[in-house]
Amino acid sequence: MKSRLVTAVLATALITLGLPTTTLAADALVGNADAGAAKAAVCAACHGATGNSVNPEWPNLAGQHREYIVEQLTALKSGMRIAPLMNPMAAALSEQDMADLAAHFSKQVLVGLETSGDAWKAGEKLYRGGDAARGIPACAACHGPEGRGNGPARWPQVRAQQPAYVTAQLQHYAAKSRYQTGKGVPAGAELMYDVAKRLTDDDIKALTAYLQGLR
Ligand code: HEC
Ligand code: HEC
Repeated sequence: MKSRLVTAVLATALITLGLPTTTLAADALVGNADAGAAKAAVCAACHGATGNSVNPEWPNLAGQHREYIVEQLTALKSGMRIAPLMNPMAAALSEQDMADLAAHFSKQVLVGLETSGDAWKAGEKLYRGGDAARGIPACAACHGPEGRGNGPARWPQVRAQQPAYVTAQLQHYAAKSRYQTGKGVPAGAELMYDVAKRLTDDDIKALTAYLQGLR
């Protein structure tokens, strides 16, 4: 009874804040970071032992929000999110595994890359201010001025993210190909479809260059 009450109070608080209230089963579980560290051995091959990946196509998970990690693992397990390398990895996870892994990765320290070239300047402008004439909102409005995102809202951290990965995701959102058609999408996906379809290739290059160095 107690936990139901807590859930109800939390839900009310979230409604008051205007945040999404759909709950995922694993979201309600308490993750154990130590158990997660042991379970993460198999993830290290691609995401790095410290949650910082060495391949620009594989996302960093260090410091990513618990809620977002659980949401994405759930989508990867069901096949809702299309990712051939990740779908089989997620398929093996129970809800407790997801909660433990999320607790572990969210506590790791993000390292990231440095910006290079000049493209990041245009990226910074778009990230911070958007482009009203083209209907592009400031990315910072949701992902925050430092790219830290918002855990309860499930707006992911995007700072210091791998460049090839960010490019691919923005292209997937624009083409609506990050998720399988007909399987539904996480609550926030529609927000990104609307943003990404307005971005040119140059915008994506600039944003990617900026995000890889954002701390
Ligand atoms: C064989 C390499 C590989 C292994 C092993 C692997 N992953 Fe992944 N993971 C990927 C790739 C590649 C992606 C990006 C998929 C895409 O392009 O959409 C990804 C994406 C993710 C995402 C989504 C990140 C985001 O920002 O949206 C999470 C969460 C994740 N992996 C967790 C895990 C966990 C937990 C494990 C261990 C149980 C694991 N991965 C093992 C390759 C791997
Ligand atoms: C209205 C809020 C909102 C705005 C504005 C917004 N985003 Fe997002 N973004 C989200 C949400 C929510 C998600 C997670 C969507 C999902 O579930 O797939 C997301 C996901 C992403 C991802 C994928 C993260 C990952 O780890 O896979 C990237 C990259 C991204 N956004 C970049 C941007 C950029 C660049 C801009 C500005 C051009 C932007 N976003 C503007 C809400 C927003």
